[in-house]
Amino acid sequence: VDSSIGGKTAVNLGGIKNIVGSFKQPKAVLIDTSVLSTLPIRQMRNGLCEAIKMATTSNADLFERLESMSEDDIYNNIEEIIVESLKIKKAVVEDDVEESGVRKILNFGHTLGHGIEASEDLNGLYHGECVSLGMLPVVFGEAKDRLVKLLNKVSLPTEYTGNINDALSYVIHDKKCSSGIVSVITCEKIGACKIEAMSIDQFKNIVFNHYNCT
Ligand code: GLY
Repeated sequence: VDSSIGGKTAVNLGGIKNIVGSFKQPKAVLIDTSVLSTLPIRQMRNGLCEAIKMATTSNADLFERLESMSEDDIYNNIEEIIVESLKIKKAVVEDDVEESGVRKILNFGHTLGHGIEASEDLNGLYHGECVSLGMLPVVFGEAKDRLVKLLNKVSLPTEYTGNINDALSYVIHDKKCSSGIVSVITCEKIGACKIEAMSIDQFKNIVFNHYNCT
């Protein structure tokens, strides 16, 4: 749903996620949903998180559709969900191939998410699970309630038992952070989002407020 198109390639280095990379478009992308039947349910949920991410920032209809379906129905209709998610990704990437602006919205939930992933040393939570935890502090009001409910329905984590300070220590190394200012994607209304420049302390406060810690 997320990495298949858009040509973003990257590697982790020194414990930092995706810190070195380039844009290289493939000649073609093959998406065969029949192979999904080989995956354990945890991996299905892991991938589904990126579709939920795209619906949250960019498509209220898709979000409502996911809200209206049981988890089984979601997987029974996964082709349609993949197609709708990729339409969002395609539109965003065509507008901003090298991420100078709008493409940043695809990083929604990934600033804290990558920090959690790095602090877990890639051994604990899966990427989508970290994004699930990373989205919640940057969603506000009614949108937060709806997102928590949807994530709970598909058993993606909404509570973090690890050390948030450890996770936040990676934010300064995040590629979305420059001179102490981090580009954070926030959402106050399902289907819409904003790109906000925040100091690291502002971002930390948002995270602490959500997870009720300091
Ligand atoms: N995975 C985020 C992007 O392609 O920009």
